Formats: sequence, C-alpha cells, structure tokens
Amino acid sequence: MDAATAAIVQAIELVAVTKRYASGAPPAVEAIDLRIPSRSYCCLLGPSGCGKSTTLRMIAGHESVTSGDILLENRNITRLPAAARGTAMMFQSFALFPHLSALDNVAFSLKVKGVPRAERHRRAAELLERVAMSAFAQRKPGELSGGQQQRVALARALITEPRVFLLDEPLSALDPFLRVQMRTELRRWQRELELTFIHVTHSQEEAMALADNIVVMNHGRVEQVGAPRDIYNAPATEFIARFLGGHNVIATAQGRVAVRSDHLRVGRDRFGAPGAPTLAATVTDIEYQGCYVLLGLLSQDAAGDRPLCAMLPEAEYLRHQYLPGEPVHLGWHAHQAHALAR
Ligand SMILES: Nc1ncnc2c1ncn2[C@@H]1O[C@H](COP(=O)(O)OP(=O)(O)OP(=O)(O)O)[C@@H](O)[C@H]1O
Ligand SMILES: [Mg+2]
Repeated sequence: MDAATAAIVQAIELVAVTKRYASGAPPAVEAIDLRIPSRSYCCLLGPSGCGKSTTLRMIAGHESVTSGDILLENRNITRLPAAARGTAMMFQSFALFPHLSALDNVAFSLKVKGVPRAERHRRAAELLERVAMSAFAQRKPGELSGGQQQRVALARALITEPRVFLLDEPLSALDPFLRVQMRTELRRWQRELELTFIHVTHSQEEAMALADNIVVMNHGRVEQVGAPRDIYNAPATEFIARFLGGHNVIATAQGRVAVRSDHLRVGRDRFGAPGAPTLAATVTDIEYQGCYVLLGLLSQDAAGDRPLCAMLPEAEYLRHQYLPGEPVHLGWHAHQAHALAR
C-alpha cells in the first residue's frame, strides 16, 4: 500500500449503528454513520446522555449493538469479544488495582494470558519507561498522583498493543491545572505511538484542543463532523452554536444565524453601510477577563428579546468604557454570520 492509500484507511467505521437498551425504549444511539481515519485524534463531544459512552462501549465490545455494523480497518468486529477486537479502553477512574504495584498493574493482562513473569515484567517496564514512570514502578496506585496514575493506566492499556485506543472522559478526575497538562501529554502520546485515539468528552475546550476531528452528538445522533476550526467557524445547527459557546444566535429576516462573540461589533453610533446588519441593544453587564472583556447585552431581534454577548479586546473596551444600562448599536459583517439549519 502506498502512502496516499494508507492515509485514507479508516481505523473505525460505523454503519447505521443503533443501540436500544430496552425494546420499545427510545434509542440511546440512532443510526450513526461515522468514519474515523487511521492515526487521527477523534473526540466525541456532546451533552450528558447524548450517547457518547454508549458509542465508545459498542466500539470496545463492552456493549452489544442492536443493529448496524462496526468495522476496524475494514474488518467487521461487530460480534467479536472485546479482547479480540484490537481496541483498548482507558476509563475515567483509571480503574487500577489498588493492591498491585504500577509494574504489576501494567503487566496484568499479560499475566491473564499466561505470559511468563520475566517476559511480562520486561514488557511492562518498557512501557513504564515510555510514559516516564520507571522511577515509580514499585509504587501502589494510592502512592501516586492523579497524573501519574493516568500514565500507569495508559501503559496498562497499551500493553495489549491496540490499533485503536478508546478514552472515556480520561481527564475528568484530574484538577484543572493537571487536566491541561495531561491533555498535552495525550496528544503527544497519540502522535508518538501513531495510534488512532477516540476520546469522549463533554468539554468543547478539551475537544478543540485535542482533536483532528470532532464528532458533535445530540440525542443519540451525529449533528456535525469536522475539524475544530471548521465546526467553530461554521456550526451547522443552533444546538452546536450554543453548545460550543462563544457564539450568538440571532434571528434575522432571512433566518437564524450564528455570529461569534468576538465578531460582534459594538459602538455608541450606528455603523456600517446602509442595509448592513445591525441591532440596537442595552449593555446589561461587564466581565473583565484579562486580555478581553465580555459585554452582556440585551437586544430585540426578529424573534423577540435576546441576550447576546460581545467579546472586546481589552484596549478597545478601555477606549469606550461602556457602562451597564447604556444603549449601544451592534453590527457584524455579513460574511461572519453563518446560517443555521433548524
Ligand atoms: N446500561 C444502560 N441501561 C439503560 N440505559 C442506559 C444504559 N447506559 C446508558 N443508558 C442511557 O442511554 C443514553 C445514553 O447514555 P450514555 O452513557 O451513552 O451518554 P453519555 O453521552 O456518555 O453521557 P455522559 O456525558 O453523562 O457520560 C442515556 O439516556 C442513558 O440513560
Ligand atoms: Mg458517558
């Protein structure tokens, strides 16, 4: 296979995958079609209950599929047991064995397979070195920090030599500072190991920071798939614009549009060419955020009262010093307003 052909191999393909936990119940996942390219970092993003974990568990083989097919590198794995699929999963709580050392935790699945002690310890030690944890090989999980436990959990999953690595909210047990640090590490590991990562999160910030492709889910369906920048700049639906944050949804005579908060212009005088989009608004609150200032605004669009938000660079805010209660004019460039599907 040449490089160009190899580049388009799909690590995972879901074909019309549906999951119903009980017959007659509404589907948790409904007719999902999805292709995840090999060696890419994919984030499944969406609100609580939208079906992210269900989708991941069906790929892992921890949950059966009601209908549809799951392919891994063109191999149909829909009915294979979890251990035979070529996937490995890392859980939110890391699920390490508290009574085993880091080394024995990593070696555990090889022990189950009957690999001799010296060989399994050699391979576990290699993996601990890879995640910079050699110095902690003999420590028990309770003697490790959250970030260190996460590295052990990663090494333990990697020892099965998976083709596709599945992560369900892997950073949510960590404090905010460590979360950002481990996020960078996850991305580095994915590149170094040249594996496909599928990472479930309900944090748009995490998905934007990590993903080559984001799959936005809502009510068991896929709403949009794309690179973070494409989704952020052209959210397909009102749900996505609101869920991503940083956008205003405005009803115009031509339909609903999304305008980024940093693209909403604010002035004391009406501006723009005649006919350019504009709205009258009142400043409701002002939040200082450091390099920018958030202005809360109340306006009336084609659908009635509408709270909006404008993000102004600090210097621009300081030039104008808007006050709560003050009437202002809002505007935006027509090309910065993206029409939303209903
Ligand atoms: N084992 C189960 N039995 C019955 N219903 C379930 C089961 N697991 C999940 N569900 C339901 O399926 C839907 C999707 O759940 P899922 O766990 O996939 O959501 P999620 O997107 O991972 O949410 P969260 O962000 O809260 O983890 C929910 O309505 C949930 O209540
Ligand atoms: Mg979940």
